[in-house]
Amino acid sequence: SASLLPAPEQLVIDHTAEFIREKFLHEGSGHDWEHIRRVWQVARALAAQTPSADALVTELAALLHDVADWKFHDGDEEAGPRAARRWLESQHVAEPVIQRVEAVIREISFKGLGVATPMSTVEGELVQDADRLDAIGAIGVARAFAYGGHKGRPLHDPTVPPVVHESFESYKRNVAPTINHFYEKLLHLRERLNTPAARRVAEERHAFMEQFLTQFLREWDSQDVAQS
Ligand code: ADP
Ligand code: NI
Repeated sequence: SASLLPAPEQLVIDHTAEFIREKFLHEGSGHDWEHIRRVWQVARALAAQTPSADALVTELAALLHDVADWKFHDGDEEAGPRAARRWLESQHVAEPVIQRVEAVIREISFKGLGVATPMSTVEGELVQDADRLDAIGAIGVARAFAYGGHKGRPLHDPTVPPVVHESFESYKRNVAPTINHFYEKLLHLRERLNTPAARRVAEERHAFMEQFLTQFLREWDSQDVAQS
């Protein structure tokens, strides 16, 4: 789609997209380039409906939001903001823009059901919604199992109950089966979206996840076989 950004800003976005695309092209844990491309696309669409959002900050934050995720950097929450700053400084991006992108990356992650994660910028609200929409629905199901497989987790274990994590430290230590992740996070994202537009999109995706879980648990005990 045609961009309304001035040429130098568009150039920084294009360079950033190419940098991230190359870095994440062969990633296999559900944090691949296609995830980032979708978050970028959805965040841009949300920004187009939000006059107060800065397009440059929104697009750069969407592109860089997973640049050095704590999940793959020993739980280091500052790895992402640090890597984003290093890249944006290399592109001579203005300091106030860098600071806002850093804030989005610092605040965006889910940190446990019992942990509030307010966003301090409108751009952060949009990128967080875009990121969360990509964690639910059919894509969300696929990404959860891709992540669980990457970590060697079982699909499901009915003897392990879901946990409400009250601190980020507790959430980070979590090694539960992948089905638990739906009850510990994914089924709650619909209620935690920032924008009405994202909430509308979430309805169908949420319903699909519920349907998936009902069917999964039915097949788990071969209930459908017993009834046939
Ligand atoms: P967030 O910023 O909220 O942590 P990301 O964009 O980094 O989300 O993506 C995390 C992806 O990995 C999501 O699709 C999420 O469902 C998946 N994921 C994270 N933790 C787990 C887990 N313990 N089990 C299964 N999937 C997970
Ligand atoms: Ni993400």
